[in-house]
Amino acid sequence: MAELKLNVNGRVRQVQAAQDEPLLWVLRNKLGLTGTKYGCGEGQCGACTVLLDGRPTRSCLTPAVAAAGAKITTIEGLEQNGRLSPVQEAFLEEGAFQCAYCTSGMVLAATALLAEKPHPSEDEIVEAMNGNMCRCGTYPRIVAAVRRASLSVEKKEAAHARG
Ligand code: FES
Ligand code: FES
Repeated sequence: MAELKLNVNGRVRQVQAAQDEPLLWVLRNKLGLTGTKYGCGEGQCGACTVLLDGRPTRSCLTPAVAAAGAKITTIEGLEQNGRLSPVQEAFLEEGAFQCAYCTSGMVLAATALLAEKPHPSEDEIVEAMNGNMCRCGTYPRIVAAVRRASLSVEKKEAAHARG
């Protein structure tokens, strides 16, 4: 067992974890952050996606010890002062889910994409989200939600530019 300090959603959390214990289980079972989902456990579906220093990362394949020192963001960390993030709002507005099992991973993957590229083309959205599976097949709405989030960023920028 290793004693770890993990920076999760802006808070330092102290946990004990086995050397090979996946970050996913530490988040869910030791820190109660159950928004991060277990899908395939093999790095194939993206349900377990979290951000490590802003990069989308499969928490099922990442040992928690490897995440010590990084800024970890889970779905619970996106809202600010009780307000959903633009990507979360856009997913709700577009109804971009059915069972919503994939949604945390999708929202985090989209958040990382828009942070790097605020105005992606549709092809770029599809490519960036390609590693995240939705068994309910809501892909068109997911792409629409990412577009909507990107447009809302655009509107805020325009309003800011107008003063
Ligand atoms: S549960 Fe991690 S990629 Fe599927
Ligand atoms: S909404 Fe069910 S898996 Fe995506």
